[in-house]
Amino acid sequence: MSATSMRTNMCGELRTAHIGQTVSVCGWVASRREHGTQLAFVDLRDHTGVVQCVVDNDVDVRSEFVLRVTGVVRARLEGTVNANLPTGEIELGECQVEVLRNAEPPPFPIDSRADKVEETTRLQFRYLDIRRERMQRNLRVRAKVNSAIRRAMEAQDFVEVETPMLVPSTPEGAREFLVPSRKEPGSFYALPQSPQLFKQLLMVAGMDRYYQIARCLRDEDLRADRQYEFMQLDAEMSFVSQDDVLAAIGKAVTAAAEAVTGEIIPTIEQMTWRDAMNRFGVDKPDLRFGMELTELTDVFGTTEFKAFAGAACIKGINASGKADEMGRNKLDALTDKAKQMGAKGLVWLKVAADGSLESPVAKFLSADEQAEVSRRLDAKPGDLILIVADSWDTTCDVLGQLRNDLGRPPVWQGPYRYVWVIEFPLFVGLDKETGKPKPGHHPFCMPHPDDLAMFDTDPMAVRAMAYDLVLNGWELGSGSIRIHKSELQRKVFTALGISDEDAEKKFGFFLRPFEYGAPPHGGFAFGIDRLVAILAGEENIREVIAFPKTQSGSDPMTNSPTPADPKQLTELGIRTLPPKV
Ligand code: AMO
Ligand code: AMP
Repeated sequence: MSATSMRTNMCGELRTAHIGQTVSVCGWVASRREHGTQLAFVDLRDHTGVVQCVVDNDVDVRSEFVLRVTGVVRARLEGTVNANLPTGEIELGECQVEVLRNAEPPPFPIDSRADKVEETTRLQFRYLDIRRERMQRNLRVRAKVNSAIRRAMEAQDFVEVETPMLVPSTPEGAREFLVPSRKEPGSFYALPQSPQLFKQLLMVAGMDRYYQIARCLRDEDLRADRQYEFMQLDAEMSFVSQDDVLAAIGKAVTAAAEAVTGEIIPTIEQMTWRDAMNRFGVDKPDLRFGMELTELTDVFGTTEFKAFAGAACIKGINASGKADEMGRNKLDALTDKAKQMGAKGLVWLKVAADGSLESPVAKFLSADEQAEVSRRLDAKPGDLILIVADSWDTTCDVLGQLRNDLGRPPVWQGPYRYVWVIEFPLFVGLDKETGKPKPGHHPFCMPHPDDLAMFDTDPMAVRAMAYDLVLNGWELGSGSIRIHKSELQRKVFTALGISDEDAEKKFGFFLRPFEYGAPPHGGFAFGIDRLVAILAGEENIREVIAFPKTQSGSDPMTNSPTPADPKQLTELGIRTLPPKV
C-alpha cells in the first residue's frame, strides 16, 4: 500500500524475509557513520523506522538530507546485528543513492534526545519535532481514535452535521474569542465554545441523532489539559433517556480506546456525584488507587477535642505506609495546603509499630475515639492518617485534593479506569451580586424529576440530569438531558433570578425555536485531545496536537499572535489602545 513510483518498501518494514530483493526506500538521513576508508553506514528513516544502508564513502550526505536509496537487502555480518532494531538483522548493500534534497543541520536531534529540549524550541521547529517517533506515534494514535469514533457513531445511526464557526455567544461559561464584522463595524461574531446551541436546534429540526468531531474555541488560561482550540466528539440525540445517551457515547469511547490499546473495556460503571464527593472528595474521582475518604463525624459526636467538637462533617484518609516518609516539614506543608483550601486545620496521626496513634493532638482524643478511627481507616503500623473537620463541602474538597496529591499516579498510567459521574447538582453556589444560585452546568439542563418538589424549598439540593465521563481523574466529557418544555425552563430561570424579559434578550433566539416542537433530547461532548493524550501515554495534550499553542498562548513557529495591519483594522472599524506597560 505504501509503495509509490519512487519506493518499493518502507524503511522500517524490511526483514530477513526480504533478503535478496532489490528495493527502493525514501526518507531522511538519521545518522552517518564512517566504516573504514571506503564505506559509510547511513541510517535512513521514514515514519516506520530506520534501515541501515551501506554506501560509498564519497557520497555526500549528512543528517536530515532526503534520499532515495536503491539497494539489495542482505544479512548483516555476524557481530553487527542490532537486536534492539526491528530491521537490525539486515542492511541494504550495493546502494545507489539519489539526494532528493539537502538539509540544514537540524536545531535538535530528531530522536528522543529532543524530549529534553526547551518546549518553545520544539514548537518553533514543530515540523522537525513531528518527524520524531514520539510525535509520529501520537498523531497516528489520534487518527486511530478519530476513525474509531466515526465508525462507532455511524454504526449507531448518528449523522455528521457541520455547524458554523462564526456564531453568537454560547453559554458554556468560558471567555470567548471575538471576530469583528467588517460589514457591521462594532459588531462581532464569537468563535464557538461548542456547537451546543446548534446541536439542540438540530434536534428541533428532526435530525434525530447528530454527531460531529467539532473544533471548539475557548479563551481560557492554558494548562496540561487545556488549549484554546480543542476537539470534541459532540453528539445529541432525540427521544432518549439518560442511559441511552451514556450507552451511545460509551460505545464511541470504548471503541476508540480499544482501537488503540486492544483492551476490551467492560461496561463503564456509574457513580452519583454525591458518592464521588463522599468517597473521593472530587467530582472527577481517580479510581486507580484507594485512600478513600472515610466518614468519622459520628465517632466524634461527644468529643472533648475542640477542633472537632460540633463539626458538621469529619472525614479521614489513610495514606498507607507514608508515616516514615512524611517528616515534620512535609506535614506542615500539607497543613498549609489544607488551610489554603479553606480548612481550619489538619490533624495527622502516625500509626506506631504497636498500633498506637502518634500525634501532637493524640492526647485530646479518647481511647475509644482513637480505636474507632484506627478501625474505620484500617490503620496499620507505618500508616499516616489525615483528618479534617469542617462543612461537608470543605472537608470533601480538602481531603480529595490531599488524596490526589499523595496517591495519584500520572494520568496516562494504566489501568484505565472510566466512570460516569451522574446526578450533578442543578445549582452550585450563590452569585455574589444577585444572591441567586448559579447553574451547575448551563441553564438548559433538565432537573431530576424526583427533585422538582424541592425547587422552592431547597433548590441547592436539586439534582440535574447531568453527567460527566471521567478517566483516571481527568474529566473527559460532560452532557445532560435538556429541558424541552417552556414551563420548566421558566422555573429554572426564575430560580436563577433571570426574568422573562432577560431570558428573551439573552436566549430568545435559542429558545423561541423550541416553541415549534422541541423533542425530548439530550447529549454529550468529550474532549478528544484528553482521551488521546491518556491513550498515548502523555501528560499534556500539547503532545498529541500537531500545532498547539504554548502555555502562554503563542505559536513560536508562525509567531502568532501578531499585530494587525493598520489598514485591516481601519476596514474593521477598530482602533487599538497602546500596549499595556
Ligand atoms: P464541556 O464544556 O464540559 O461541555 O466540554 C466538554 C469536554 O471538552 C473538553 N474541553 C477541553 N479540552 C481541551 N481544552 C479545553 N480548553 C477544553 N475545554 C473543554 C473536556 C470537556 O469535558 N456543550 C457541552 C457538552 C454538552 O452538554 O453536550 C460542553 O461543551 O474534555
Ligand atoms: P488548634 O486547636 O487550632 O491549635 O488546632 C490543633 C490541631 O488541630 C492543629 O494541628 C490543627 O491543624 C488541627 N485542626 C484545627 N482545626 C481543625 C479542623 N477543623 N479539622 C482538622 N484539624 C483541625
